[in-house]
This record gives sequence, structure tokens and C-alpha cells, in this order.
Amino acid sequence: MPDSKAAISYGETKTEAPVLSGSIGPSVIDIRSLYAQTGCFTYDPGFTSTAACKSTITYIDGDKGELLYRGYPIDQLADKSNYLEVCYLLLYGELPTQAQLKDFEQRVTRHTMIHDQMQYFFRGFRRDAHPMAVMCGVVGALSAFYHDSTDINDPVQREIASIRLIAKMPTIAAMAYKYSIGQPFIYPKNELSYAENFLHMCFATPCEEYKVNPIFAHAMDVIFTLHADHEQNASTSTVRLSGSSGANPFACIAAGVACLWGPAHGGANEAALNMLREIGTPDRVPEYVAKAKDKNSGFRLMGFGHRVYKNYDPRAKVMQQVAKDVLAQLGASDNPILQVAQDLEKVALSDPYFIEKKLYPNVDFYSGIILNAIGFPTSMFTAIFALARTVGWIAQWKEMIEDKDQKIGRPRQLYIGAPQRDYVDLKARG
Ligand code: CMC
Repeated sequence: MPDSKAAISYGETKTEAPVLSGSIGPSVIDIRSLYAQTGCFTYDPGFTSTAACKSTITYIDGDKGELLYRGYPIDQLADKSNYLEVCYLLLYGELPTQAQLKDFEQRVTRHTMIHDQMQYFFRGFRRDAHPMAVMCGVVGALSAFYHDSTDINDPVQREIASIRLIAKMPTIAAMAYKYSIGQPFIYPKNELSYAENFLHMCFATPCEEYKVNPIFAHAMDVIFTLHADHEQNASTSTVRLSGSSGANPFACIAAGVACLWGPAHGGANEAALNMLREIGTPDRVPEYVAKAKDKNSGFRLMGFGHRVYKNYDPRAKVMQQVAKDVLAQLGASDNPILQVAQDLEKVALSDPYFIEKKLYPNVDFYSGIILNAIGFPTSMFTAIFALARTVGWIAQWKEMIEDKDQKIGRPRQLYIGAPQRDYVDLKARG
């Protein structure tokens, strides 16, 4: 039932549209019958004012700088929970009991290996391929190996595909890394936690026992948790749009990986660390701030600004602390890149340009510093984001499939091209 109605008047037409309220956040004007009633579409490039679905998963208040997974604040989850518990929460809506968590952990752990034949896919790529290029291909290829979980109308198959994706993404990302550095693939180890296992698959070699640093494992787990979901962002909307046609979950997640790769989205963590390295020393910070303010330079401060957050990104706050902890443990608190980042943040946050435009550090500003300290090359940063976001993509995909209002996504357009005209024969065109 609508809570109220919005009056719409266009030319001779006067009509009303229902206004629907969520549990928190802005209400929406339900314009589903607008075209039928007025003959008009709405125009909203970039979806700045458009809610494309109903959701119970994640809530963001961009003005307050608040992020909730199923109602729980992100800082509480980063501090008290762990990634697999958060995965359970995102997928099933509630925090698990001890027995439910144990069962879930076991199910994920038992699906971490990938079909052995899949290693030949990796061998087909150039060694210098970007890990995200490899991820796009290999994640899509999962649908060629796991036919028994591609029927989207079967809830059991949807469940198996979900677990498979969460379990196999770290293996695929680690294999992409190992392949790029010419080292043999390392199989997952069931006795390790999710984050420990990922570090093991990335950094162990067959010649030497690898002991996972617990501080790195904790930092990794927090990074996964902070990236697990983020409402209807570009890659999640891509997954939903792909899924709306009935495509199988592996294909949909591959579409999400491709979308995430862009520098305005998940690719920003790689770009942010490259930028901090380019700045190099704190004395060059003002020069880069001036460049970011100059529209003609085409340069932006990577890791700054967000479509939704007009306040400090709550994930960046947690990330900044983890970066400090990791560097302190490594005895590298004087790391020049951390110093550049902190100075850049200070200068930008006191500059009228950034204040007026409400540009604050986002999640990607500090994550690269942590990943770099752990030993990852910048090219792996977005792949790590993709593996962490997979649970969010799946939770959103499942929610969409189970939503009775769901239809194939099919936006319309404002056509500004040539009106109908007759074909001109090639010879007559000169
Ligand atoms: N540096 C300098 N100026 C900026 C920046 C920046 N990082 N971000 C936005 N602006 C300016 C922009 O030039 C524009 O100015 P004006 O109104 O005078 O034209 C104004 O702020 C609004 O920018 P916009 O591009 O219209 O805003 P948007 O909501 O479309 O874009 C954004 C959001 C994240 C793409 C953008 O802030 C950006 O490009 N940031 C750098 C890339 C980045 O860090 N991305 C990671 C996002 S968080 C992780 C994720 O969700 O994937």
C-alpha cells in the first residue's frame, strides 16, 4: 500500500503516482505507470535519482557516512565479526548461530578447489595479462564446468552456485597471481581460515612451508568484510541487469567483475596507490591538489569522492586504522606512502574545493597501502576487491531472482539521432 501520492501534471494530463516508503532512507515515487499515463519516460543518466529495485541487504546514508549490512553498522562488523560470518549475514539475512556458522564454513571450505581442467584456461593467457582480465574469463568459464548449478529456477542449484562462487573466487584470484609471476599454483588448505587460505595460495611455494602472519590475515579479513557489499553500485547493478535476463550466476558474476575493473569503481584502489607513489613525498602534495582542482588537467584525486557518500566513507575510517596497525607491526610507521596519504587527506579536507564538493577519502584510499604492505602488486588490488564483493553480488542476484516484481531490465532512452530517412545508394553518395 502506498503511503502517499505525488501529483504529476504534464500538459493536459493530471495524474498521481504512489509514494512508497522503505524502513529507512528516502521514499520513492513509483513511476511504473508514468509512460502509460503521460506518454513520457523519465531521464536520469547515471541513475542519480532512480531506485531500480527493493532490497533488504545493505543500507547507505551518504550524508551521515553510514553503511549497514542487514542493519548492522560496518564498523561493528569489521571490529567484532569476520568475513564468513558476514557472508552468511548477507546471504541469509541474519547472523548465524554457532552451528549454522560451522556448517556454512564447512560448506565453503569444501568447495575451494576448482575443476582441474580449468588450469588450462590460465595457461592460455599471456603471462603479463592483468589479473582482472584473467578473472573476467575464468569466472565466466565456471558455467562451463558446473552445469549442475546453472538452473536459476531451482533454489537448491542457486544455493550451490552461491557457495561455489564464494569458495572458488580466492582460488581463481590466487591462481591469476601465481600465473602472472611464473610460480606453480598452490592448492587451497582446508585447515586455514578463508583469509589465511587466500594468503597461503598467493604466497606459499612448494619448496618452503609458509606461515601466515596473523596480522596480515586479520587485515585481509577486514578488507574482505569492508568490500563485501555496497548496495546498488555499478557492478552490482550490472550483475542484477545480467541476471534479469535469466543468465546463469557464473555469467552474471563475470559481468560484475568486468564492470568492477573500471578506475571509477573497483579499479580506483590500484589507481590510488599508483597516484600516491607518483606523488612520492609530502612536499609534492599541494601540487597534486592544485592539479585535481584544475578542470583542464583531467586529473582527479583517486580514492577521493563518492557518488553516495557526501561525508567520510565509513569504510575508509576502518581502513585507515588497519593501515596504521599493519605498518606499525612491520615497523614501518614512517612509510613515505602512508605519510603522503595522510598529508594529502589533511590538505584536501581543509581545501574549499573539496569541502564544497563534499569530497572525502573513500574505501580505496587506504586499502592499497595495506595490500602493498602485505606483498600484493597493484595489479592484484581490484581482483581482491572482486573476490570480496562476490558475496554481495550473489546476495543481490538471489534477492532479485526471488523478487516477484522482477522483470528483465530494459531502460528506455531519449533519442536525439536522425529521424527516419531513405537509404542513399553508395554511388549517389560520391
Ligand atoms: N578529485 C577531484 N575532483 C573530483 C573528484 C576527485 N576525486 N571526484 C569528483 N570531483 C569533482 C568533479 O570534477 C565534479 O566537479 P564539478 O561539479 O565542478 O563538475 C564534482 O566533484 C562531482 O563529481 P562527479 O564526477 O559528477 O561525481 P560522481 O558522483 O559522478 O562520481 C566518483 C563519483 C567516485 C566516480 C568520483 O568522485 C571519482 O572519479 N573519484 C575518483 C575515483 C575513485 O576514487 N573511485 C572509487 C569510488 S569508491 C569505490 C567503489 O565504490 O568502487
